[in-house]
Amino acid sequence: MAKPKKRYACAACGSVTHRWQGQCADCSEWNTLVEEVPATVFSARHDLSSGGRAIGFERLDAVSKPLRRRPSGIAEFDRALGGGLVPGSAILMGGDPGIGKSTLLLQAAAAVALTGAEAVYISGEEATGQVRLRAERLGLAGAPIRLAAATSVRDILTTLSEMEPPALLVIDSIQTMHSDLIEGAPGTVSQVRSSAFELIRYAKENGVALVLVGHVTKDGSIAGPRVLEHMVDVVMAFEGERSHQYRILRCLKNRFGPVDEIGVFAMEGHGLSEVGNPSMLFLSGASDAVPGSAVFPAIEGTRPVLVEIQALIVRLASGATPRRAVVGWDSGRLAMLLAVLEARCGLNFSSAEVYLNIAGGYRLVDPAADLAVAAALVSALADKPLPARSLWFGEVSLAGEVRGVAHAGLRLREGVKLGFPAAFGPPEGAAKAGSNVPDLRFTAMARLPNLVDRIMGAA
Ligand code: TYD
Ligand code: MG
Repeated sequence: MAKPKKRYACAACGSVTHRWQGQCADCSEWNTLVEEVPATVFSARHDLSSGGRAIGFERLDAVSKPLRRRPSGIAEFDRALGGGLVPGSAILMGGDPGIGKSTLLLQAAAAVALTGAEAVYISGEEATGQVRLRAERLGLAGAPIRLAAATSVRDILTTLSEMEPPALLVIDSIQTMHSDLIEGAPGTVSQVRSSAFELIRYAKENGVALVLVGHVTKDGSIAGPRVLEHMVDVVMAFEGERSHQYRILRCLKNRFGPVDEIGVFAMEGHGLSEVGNPSMLFLSGASDAVPGSAVFPAIEGTRPVLVEIQALIVRLASGATPRRAVVGWDSGRLAMLLAVLEARCGLNFSSAEVYLNIAGGYRLVDPAADLAVAAALVSALADKPLPARSLWFGEVSLAGEVRGVAHAGLRLREGVKLGFPAAFGPPEGAAKAGSNVPDLRFTAMARLPNLVDRIMGAA
């Protein structure tokens, strides 16, 4: 019999290879490949003459039951989910340790329990006493949650099978769960997958909304949430800077709805509070115009959010390699924008250090931010503030053109509402949208050199 081939699974992305390597070929993480116990293969090929049952085909236009959704009781959570919890679905909630996943889910479980439905919270990380203390701090000690500390998937499923299936089941976290169907310590790729598989099957068969918590880890010894992304219906990321108050719940995959809405929370002394109107949150509040600062009207789902972009440029005297550091934006995109500013506008950043920061710990993903970032960079380079109370938006192409973006009208209306009467943006679409907004001074910028002339040329 041939010796079974060794398999190595990446703890970060789950890809499998047959040769150990220091770096995963798929996701480029280092030291994440761990040996995986191969599953037993009974026969290389199905025997087609016996054993199989015929499956029935269905039509796409057959009548199916409308999707029922159960509001969790936390409006921002429901918004990010696309309208509430779907019974029989599996949600994976990823996030850095300490960001507030347990807090949010305890609050959601309490809200569900307070509506009279059953909510089960299984903690594999904390003792029940610790969870109870947190519930007291959150003012939720009276909520009729069923709470347990357990890590054995077999024990959990046996217990659940003897009771009425709950409306919500929270497993905190999937990396602490252990399935005895498979070898290996909790947290390995195969353990995490097999535990999740069993829990998801229970949820689907019993119409339970299941939430699996997954810590995002840099340490290769524990499998990260990405190894489960293909198995669940909804993937959510809870993000923010631990040193900042604001947290954003983002949906990355949703089999039941759109993925563009976010939920915004503030971490306070008594837990997470909902921020229903986030448009002003990420402005630093500096009233005087400072060189290197530009305000960008981002769109998150259907809501506009005004964000402050800060750039700092430090000229280097020596020939040392200059640093480029970015917080909250894509560093590749910054490199591209700097290259376009150099090639199309004749600016020189090669002997300068460039720092870019998005205020408030916000992570910018909207592609329309290019023009605002460029404005911040040019303003920092020229050491001249941008026009007071102005908004900047538009996508920049490699040729240096400013391209039209979606939702120009929404961005401009929100700006005027919040006291930003001036706006600079792409000529296409935005100019027309701008003419429909009363009290707005809109300036179209067709090309990046127009921006540079405007800022550098201004006295
Ligand atoms: P937690 O929910 O335990 O994070 P996770 O489950 O994602 O690891 O949140 C931990 C942090 O939140 C902790 O550092 C303290 C802070 N926190 C508050 O600021 N206020 C609160 O009311 C609670 C419960 C936690
Ligand atoms: Mg936790």
